[in-house]
Amino acid sequence: AERKFFVGGNFKMNGTKASLDDIITNLNTVNCPVTDVVVAPPTLYLDYVINKITSQVQVASQNCYKVSKGAYTGEVSPAMLTDIGVNWVVLGHSERRHVFNETNELIGSKVKHALESGLSVIPCIGEKLDEREAGVTEQVVFEQMKFIKDNVEDWTKVVIAYEPVWAIGTGKTATPGQAQEIHEKLRKWLADNVSEAVAKSTRIIYGGSVNGGNCKELAKGKDIDGFLVGGASLKPEFLDIIKANA
Ligand code: G3H
Repeated sequence: AERKFFVGGNFKMNGTKASLDDIITNLNTVNCPVTDVVVAPPTLYLDYVINKITSQVQVASQNCYKVSKGAYTGEVSPAMLTDIGVNWVVLGHSERRHVFNETNELIGSKVKHALESGLSVIPCIGEKLDEREAGVTEQVVFEQMKFIKDNVEDWTKVVIAYEPVWAIGTGKTATPGQAQEIHEKLRKWLADNVSEAVAKSTRIIYGGSVNGGNCKELAKGKDIDGFLVGGASLKPEFLDIIKANA
């Protein structure tokens, strides 16, 4: 395959040292060289997880700020993340956008600064239910993509996560057809707005109620290059999702 399968586990605001120990023990049994695996524990536990997890699994922050240091109470910078050995960051997750009101502009600046600081980024995009029902899904995700694109030079360090908001944490997965349709349009958008080469090589992963039961069917979509998993990444079935394409 021209694009390596990629599975991210976003733990969101879940976990204790004890529960993370169980997840790590399970993940340390992973042997799936055809998949890039990245997990994103809560910021507070990044260092803890890094020190216990196999080198086959990389670690991501769930967010970061747009500058390297200063008077920004409560924030974490890319420089701090790289200092403790984190090399990925999830940016613009729908919960950041819709619970914490992050704008396309802010997410764009974060993408830029994170990349400049040496992190690889997983920018997230996706339409809300009312937007899908109003038929503006493409406009919404293309607009979100524009703010990402304007801040990226090196696309080898970017994995796009398409997560329809109505499918996140709802148990309501996009059908393989619905997911593939948007992934294909996003790839076309990259071809038209960045380059053919970037469109071909950039991984576009799907998120929204992915689980052990639906992952294989979703993985068949030719433009679906992996997943960003929330709830199921906390469970043993995460290993099945990692192997969805193997
Ligand atoms: O980042 C992950 C997504 O928000 C999906 O979450 O798998 O719990 O629906 P979920």
